[in-house]
Amino acid sequence: MSFDDLIDRHGTFCSKWDMMEPIYGVPAQDGLAMWVADMDFRAPDHVLAKLREMTDHGVLGYVNYDKPYTDAIRWWMRNRHDWDVAPEAIFTTTGLVNGVGMCLDTFTQPGDGIVLFTPVYHAFAKVIRNAGRQVVECQMVNTDGRYEMDFAAYDAQMTGNERMVILCSPHNPGGRVWTREELRAVADFAKRHDLLLLSDEIHHDLVYPGHTHIPMPNAAPDIVDRLLMLTAPSKTFNIAGLHTGQVIIPDPELRGRFAKRMAALSLAPNSTGQMATLTAYSPEGAEWVDGLLAYLDENRRLFDSAIAAIPGLRSMPLEATYLAWVDFSGTGMDRAEFTERVEQQAKIAVNHGTSFGTGGESFLRFNLGTQRARIEEAIDRLNQAFGDLQ
Ligand SMILES: Cc1ncc(COP(=O)(O)O)c(C=O)c1O
Repeated sequence: MSFDDLIDRHGTFCSKWDMMEPIYGVPAQDGLAMWVADMDFRAPDHVLAKLREMTDHGVLGYVNYDKPYTDAIRWWMRNRHDWDVAPEAIFTTTGLVNGVGMCLDTFTQPGDGIVLFTPVYHAFAKVIRNAGRQVVECQMVNTDGRYEMDFAAYDAQMTGNERMVILCSPHNPGGRVWTREELRAVADFAKRHDLLLLSDEIHHDLVYPGHTHIPMPNAAPDIVDRLLMLTAPSKTFNIAGLHTGQVIIPDPELRGRFAKRMAALSLAPNSTGQMATLTAYSPEGAEWVDGLLAYLDENRRLFDSAIAAIPGLRSMPLEATYLAWVDFSGTGMDRAEFTERVEQQAKIAVNHGTSFGTGGESFLRFNLGTQRARIEEAIDRLNQAFGDLQ
């Protein structure tokens, strides 16, 4: 398989391509879907072959993959992230938004404050609000096109009602790979305010050369008694539709409470998601990810240099993720105008910056997890839509 192979996803009940017209008014016929965070690539061949083997066998009864499943996860974390995970620390949820919901449900109460570093992945705030908890926005500082945290300001913001802080590591959007010092500072912040720290590391495999992702327990081993780790193979291997993610809880007391809540709701993983996970987390999977990263790296280089050439537009240099975060503030246009130009003139469906919370107002998020030809097409269309600025 080549990442350049164009795959038509129209008419496959796919959120990204089939919902862009009803949601954004971007025509299905000739629109470019660059919003939802999945990629337009097939999953690795060896994963697809395994799923085919399952359906060819044809008996889709109850399974027990526990040992090979946790072995594969532990192998991946050890080999790719230098992180030792105990098998009993691993829980499987219906994806990581569900994992966040389960953690809120288990460890917090209605009315509790949940800290987010904004702008950040929009589903966090949605789940927090729907669970009757309060979003506490700690806005990141945009220092010359790079997000940083300002803990003096965040300390002053805390009221004592906060119970949990959610970190997105690497960060979506903005693509920061947090340094050891920054992770240490987040851990200290959690400690200072007696907060549980939920670290969503779903993008941990999609890190570009020159940067190293450090799992939170490696950066701050002293805070594992308040740590909830979230990881998943879904972004890495493009299998998000299988809705399988891991909540990894090092502390036995927190783990016991989580296990009880999972049991009360009788939550159990499905066989395809587990099989895809245990197959993907393998040497073949590692080789596929290395190829994917080289491809995405070229996509981001191409896209960023084209964006930089349009006066007033600026793409945050991605250290990780395939989600380009483009700032339109330099154009002097209001939000309605730059959005109209992207959606209606360039016919590109993107995520609106406002949905990521305070600080996202002048941004749109473009998904670069697609074939190079589509990146080139998007660049041509943006050059035309903003041609008057040249
Ligand atoms: C930080 C983060 N967490 C979670 C998710 C979604 O996870 P899932 O599909 O497993 O619910 C995303 C998807 O973009 C994400 O960016």
